[in-house]
Amino acid sequence: MIKLAPSILSADLAHLALALEQCEEGGADLVHFDVMDGHFVPNLTFGIPVLAALRKRTQLPLDVHLMVEAPDRLLGSYLDAGADRVAVHWEVTPHLDSTLRRIREGGARAGVAVNPATPVEYLQDVLAHLDFVVMMSVNPGFSGQSFLPHVLDKTRRLREMIGAQGAEVEIEMDGGLGRGTIRSAVEAGVETCVAGSAVFATPDPVLAMTSLRRLASGEIE
Ligand code: DX5
Ligand code: ZN
Repeated sequence: MIKLAPSILSADLAHLALALEQCEEGGADLVHFDVMDGHFVPNLTFGIPVLAALRKRTQLPLDVHLMVEAPDRLLGSYLDAGADRVAVHWEVTPHLDSTLRRIREGGARAGVAVNPATPVEYLQDVLAHLDFVVMMSVNPGFSGQSFLPHVLDKTRRLREMIGAQGAEVEIEMDGGLGRGTIRSAVEAGVETCVAGSAVFATPDPVLAMTSLRRLASGEIE
């Protein structure tokens, strides 16, 4: 069963509660929450107080994607604010093993996000400590960018690694997923599809969620 995780970064940021309602109505499985610090990525978005405010407005699991340097510093606060899943970036997490352990001890599912240029082979020895991998299919920083197709091959390699180890690791993909790309992502092994502009930069986000899910599952083309 494919999971859909709309990224509220692409929603009208003056109406985030409305975006949550649309996620619920559209049958989203998760709400993707993009934290950017202006250092690891050039852009700056939202953080802990906004997450805590949204937590009060929805029962949907909050999928927190930390695009920040030194994510350990504020990890406890994100967990306390109500994150259900937290992904840190491989590129800025030197003590990945202990960071993942802290996320799990905080009661959340632990993920690692990898940039398009980062080989998935770097995850070989950490798969057993992971709940999910976020395959970045754009260079992180902004929504609305074009999908980078070479990430499909990386995804197939990751799927093989997971299978060979018998690990229980979910593959999420983030960036440029929409009508023309979502099915190929799923065919490569993606289980959780993040979609920002393909949902919220449309006239009817609820309808967009429904049709993306049907496209992802191969029900329509
Ligand atoms: C990119 C973010 C993504 C982004 C997705 O840095 O991590 O989650 O908001 O937006 P789209 O689907 O428009 O690429
Ligand atoms: Zn993201």
